[in-house]
Amino acid sequence: MLFSNPPLVVICRGSPPRLFYASLSARHSSKAGYSIFGGAVVILSANPAITLTPMQRRSTRDFHQLGKPILFILGLLPLAALFWLNLGANPVETMTHHTGTWGLRFLLLTLTVTPLRRLSGWNWLLRYRRMLGLFAFFYALLHFATYLVFDQFFDPAAIARDVLKRPYITVGFLAFVLLIPLAATSTNAMIRRLGARRWQRLHRLVYAIGLLVILHYFWLVKADLSRPLVYAAVLALLLGYRLWFYYRHKLSICSAVIGSTDK
Ligand code: HEM
Repeated sequence: MLFSNPPLVVICRGSPPRLFYASLSARHSSKAGYSIFGGAVVILSANPAITLTPMQRRSTRDFHQLGKPILFILGLLPLAALFWLNLGANPVETMTHHTGTWGLRFLLLTLTVTPLRRLSGWNWLLRYRRMLGLFAFFYALLHFATYLVFDQFFDPAAIARDVLKRPYITVGFLAFVLLIPLAATSTNAMIRRLGARRWQRLHRLVYAIGLLVILHYFWLVKADLSRPLVYAAVLALLLGYRLWFYYRHKLSICSAVIGSTDK
């Protein structure tokens, strides 16, 4: 079967992938594993958990209404920590490390959403991906601002020299520059303007950004590689899962097509 156990995926023309709850009857009326709902192509899941009663749906909605403000507050905690933590003898260094580390953590959290959603069937996780990605950009921006203001004192010539001279600054700078179009196109209006397919292709840059940030980390660490190694292992797991998923589905689609032409 083509869609033997896929997650519920809803792709609307000109808008980001969205979550809908398909009723059992709609699901059963679909022969090819998908249905059309008002211009949206709905690929239906075989997972019965997606069919909710009205009461369950209401409590799910309440949960999600609270979810975003809670995530927003949680996302600001690392910033607040900069004000109440002791910044030590070298506050600029502490700020650079803190903001860089949180930029990377939010980037990895953003990349965790898709595998976790596919493995658990928790499609609602998608609602939080954009905010996680924007927090990654926010901390990367603070990281860059710390470098710009306290390290280079707003000197563009010194920054250009540094970017060209030190490889870890070069890759960090590249990662930051690549994050800008992703943050700028994260709104619904931009997704509509670009079209879902082009938007998705652009946002695949996040994989390259992840690799660049890990390289940045390895290059700047002088002796103890244990911390960048942990982050590199997490990234390898997240990207490895995507590769495995892609090839598994490509193979199952191929065998389904071969099977249907054999008949
Ligand atoms: C304009 C771009 C960037 C510049 C100029 C820059 C610069 C720096 C500097 C100067 C350090 C400290 C190096 C040291 O202690 O010797 C650092 C560390 C770090 N940066 Fe960047 N960086 C940039 C982009 C990024 C981005 C986009 C991320 C992640 C999203 C990132 C993540 C990190 C991490 C994880 C560390 C190590 C923190 C630690 O040691 O605990 N950086 N960066």
